[in-house]
Amino acid sequence: MFARKEKPLPIAVLKPEPINTQQTKGEGIHLGEGYYWNPEALPNGHIVAIGASGSGKTQTLKAIAFSLHQTYPEMQVILLDFHGDQEIIGETYYPIHMASPHGINPLVVNLDPEGGGSNLQAIQIAGILKKSLRLGPNQEGMLIEIIKTCYLKRGIVQEQRSTWSFEPPNFDDIEEELNRRVATAFQDEEKKELAESICVRDLPVGKPNASGIYFIFHHKGAGGENIPQSPPSSPSLLYIGAARDIQKRIDGHHHIRYLLKEHYPGETFQIRYYEHLSDWQELIKLENYLIQIHKPPLNQTTLRTECKESQKLKLKLAATFQYGVFSRPQPEFNEKLVRIDLSKLPTELRAIAAESLAWQLMNQHRLQGEIQGRLPRTFLFIDEAKEMPKKEGSACDQIIADGRKFGLALVMASQSERHLSADVIGNSSTKIVLPVDQTEVKKVSQKFRFSEKKVEALTPLTALCRFGKDAELLKIQPYYQRERRC
Ligand SMILES: Nc1ncnc2c1ncn2[C@@H]1O[C@H](COP(=O)(O)OP(=O)(O)OP(=O)(O)O)[C@@H](O)[C@H]1O
Ligand SMILES: [Mg+2]
Repeated sequence: MFARKEKPLPIAVLKPEPINTQQTKGEGIHLGEGYYWNPEALPNGHIVAIGASGSGKTQTLKAIAFSLHQTYPEMQVILLDFHGDQEIIGETYYPIHMASPHGINPLVVNLDPEGGGSNLQAIQIAGILKKSLRLGPNQEGMLIEIIKTCYLKRGIVQEQRSTWSFEPPNFDDIEEELNRRVATAFQDEEKKELAESICVRDLPVGKPNASGIYFIFHHKGAGGENIPQSPPSSPSLLYIGAARDIQKRIDGHHHIRYLLKEHYPGETFQIRYYEHLSDWQELIKLENYLIQIHKPPLNQTTLRTECKESQKLKLKLAATFQYGVFSRPQPEFNEKLVRIDLSKLPTELRAIAAESLAWQLMNQHRLQGEIQGRLPRTFLFIDEAKEMPKKEGSACDQIIADGRKFGLALVMASQSERHLSADVIGNSSTKIVLPVDQTEVKKVSQKFRFSEKKVEALTPLTALCRFGKDAELLKIQPYYQRERRC
């Protein structure tokens, strides 16, 4: 309704000379035909590339990544690989899939005092999941609340910055919390009877390496040095918890440790356990009945009525839990040439992983502060822009807008201009147009400001390039030729 007439674009130009005088041998990296691309000579290091299937995007991006790594050994080059075809000599390879030991944790808290913290992280992650898994507004709201609860259980609170660097929860914690909400709304006579039959004071003491329910007891007046001596009394039950591994739960980061420290500083506790081999859902049902029977003071479980909504949310999140990639430890990704292979994940999970990583990178760079000079600290390569979430305010838009200052450059390629946001095209100093599909010629020539004729005439690995204000027609030297020389 309010469509604006777009401003007429400047006349398309293409300089006839094949070699730009400002970009001579020895400065930057060789792109092809004696042309050197120098990120320091441009307003920013961002690159956007477009081309149909087989036009040479992957070969061009790999060539740039490879040569950047060779020319600037101190710089970090990270490739998010959606198709499993980005292998480069010298890389450190991180495959992320169901059976790999590596994970990505979207819940790692952004430590930036001016835009970080657990609450904001909860909102951001819920936003990413909403987009990728098509959550409704109620489900998104519930997820925010669940994630906040998970942070609280690890002692991480928005108001205390010192807690932001505690070990973050992961998607196991989200699954547990969600299961708890689903389970609390169900009646299960069998579990109720079992709960009533358990004589908690007679259970064995210890922390077995098993799944089940644990009970934390406290002897009033015992242990604390400053507490006046009182006659021995029977231990009181403080807390009941379900755990898939009791020992790990009690010795790991869990809110109960923080609660005990806060309410009973310096005191010791007795732990009894009831071993119960079953899945989360069943464990939590049992835990819930036990809590209802014994009402321990440190349990904060409230019965909820939102069971239907939590069940729907659980269904939508099922694949994210099942793949386990968001529950395993995330590597540091510190090496100088890193390939993170997301190709074995389903599309939605790829997008969640990639968007989370891109945000983490942006946040880390912001924390490191602004760079001196123009050479970026890090180049992030994304060959297949369509795999990234396209909503406004995405990580890529943020990197394109703010990355330069903090030394983070983005290199993005796509088969179609539809997958590249106006911000990404507009703010990338380097634009590379490889042959595109006939149906794309018009739009591409407009958006990248080259004449339709010139775009139409391109052949694989020949590119119309814009470097800041300059334009070149270049035969790119592909990665496979550089690799052979190595
Ligand atoms: N090792 C190689 N030796 C010779 N030619 C190769 C080699 N690898 C790729 N090519 C050729 O390079 C060209 C560009 O391939 P590339 O994989 O970069 O295309 P692309 O634009 O990424 O396509 P897609 O969108 O399908 O991923 C193709 O014509 C391909 O056949
Ligand atoms: Mg490709």
